[in-house]
Amino acid sequence: MTAGMRKAAQIAGATAVVLALGIPLAALPASRVGESTATPAAPPSFTRDVAPIIQQKCAGCHQLGGIAPVPFHTAQQISSRSALIAATVQAGLMPPWPPGPRSPSYAGEQERRLSATERATLLAWARAGADVDGPARKPLPKKPVQVAPGESVLALRMPSTYKPRAAKGVTDDYRCFLLDPDRSGDSFVTSARIEPGAAKVVHHVILFRVSRGQVADAKRLDSGAAGLGWNCFGGTGLPTGDGSGSIQDSLNDANWVAAWAPGWGGNRLPQGTGVPLPAGSQIVMQVHYNLLNGRTRDRSRAVLTVAPSAANLTPLQTMLLPAPVEIPCAKGEQGRLCDRNEALFDLTSKYGSQAAFVPAGLLILCRGNAANPRAGAVSTCDRRLTQPTTIHVAAGHMHLLGSSIRVELNPGTPRAQVLLDIPRWDFHWQNAYTLARAVEAGPGDVVRVTCRHDVHKRMHGGHGIPKTPRYILWGEGTTDEMCLGILQVTRG
Ligand code: HEC
Repeated sequence: MTAGMRKAAQIAGATAVVLALGIPLAALPASRVGESTATPAAPPSFTRDVAPIIQQKCAGCHQLGGIAPVPFHTAQQISSRSALIAATVQAGLMPPWPPGPRSPSYAGEQERRLSATERATLLAWARAGADVDGPARKPLPKKPVQVAPGESVLALRMPSTYKPRAAKGVTDDYRCFLLDPDRSGDSFVTSARIEPGAAKVVHHVILFRVSRGQVADAKRLDSGAAGLGWNCFGGTGLPTGDGSGSIQDSLNDANWVAAWAPGWGGNRLPQGTGVPLPAGSQIVMQVHYNLLNGRTRDRSRAVLTVAPSAANLTPLQTMLLPAPVEIPCAKGEQGRLCDRNEALFDLTSKYGSQAAFVPAGLLILCRGNAANPRAGAVSTCDRRLTQPTTIHVAAGHMHLLGSSIRVELNPGTPRAQVLLDIPRWDFHWQNAYTLARAVEAGPGDVVRVTCRHDVHKRMHGGHGIPKTPRYILWGEGTTDEMCLGILQVTRG
């Protein structure tokens, strides 16, 4: 049984016990230490006590068309599921928290997990009958964006809706949209919340910075393509600089402003840091639509907070740590695409010749053998740091066949330190984690990403994973795979 199935089975179990046995909620034991004392005497009010907890800790996933099966949009939807909410909260299954025990502690952990008091409030409200003391059908008020003194809010929205499309047989559409922040001076982005319009089909969103000098090229791409935006695979589709920079340089300081994937909350960047947004630069919003889930029209938006350059923040850079993905067919599987060359050809026919260079490029970058790659379920890559580097944020990204990911510093040495360890990867629960204590590293230190994929998830199906046996390579499609560590760092 895979981890995802185990979790689903646990939730189904909790659900079945509550529903089938009709256990009165009063009978659920308030077993955790401190809970009984934390329980308020009068039943909690939905509007005052419960709604803010649901809004902050649950609704990010439990939204209309979101990744969780049920939306918690209105009081009625929440109240009618109070028994299930109590059961999953009591069992510690919700909200999910992917980092395992080997991970360090993260800032804001308490903003994602339930405190003992919050858990007690939800349980007490459910036990007391889950009454609603406010409007039942109106959407709950949205969590306001946190704005620090001196900052302003910048909401950037696609100019109109876009209907995802792709050639026959292709299940992914990469579309780039140019958004103008229209800032006269230099600024820093200090937080980013991306609100996918059609959450069901939006697989990920990346905001790229486009320098003043590149804006004309971006406009040309936009007007040259039919419909809103332009097709873009693996980036913005813009030429990168004058070509003099190495691959390492562009991976060490990627022009990312923010990223969003399912489960990813709106993260504030670490105190005192910001992503530079120089005057005249614009933002390309790359949206990856997963057509396995339909072709719903989308109009996603990004809500940023920005500080002026006078705020004197330390520039935060994004470091990408990709590793080659070379997953052979499982024993007993066979088919034309189990042959690596056929799989590579298939990738090229879907995404163009650029896609075919990536697997070889990654092998070279990670000291693999590009002529004769070693296939397997584990991918790994080391990067040696060349500058004093402070590591603030760690994240990992894989697709549907991922089973675990780890990002670590100086593995196998006395100075080894895990930055992020997700022992049971779940595609639906992706996030960026801000280290409670930033980690100082220097020239010569090594960061390593290690991923495990499980091709058996394909054989079991589910999540729309096509069952066709295939040698899987690094690719942007939902049914291709990635192994990507992401660090946000300050340097010097
Ligand atoms: C990071 C995303 C995420 C967050 C945050 C989250 N959930 Fe969930 N929830 C899910 C997913 C996904 C499922 C579907 C089951 C699965 O895949 O494990 C689910 C299932 C459930 C179910 C079972 C629904 C059913 O009908 O089977 C309940 C109840 C639930 N969640 C309650 C909560 C509560 C209460 C919170 C907040 C305290 C919360 N969830 C926060 C993602 C999330």
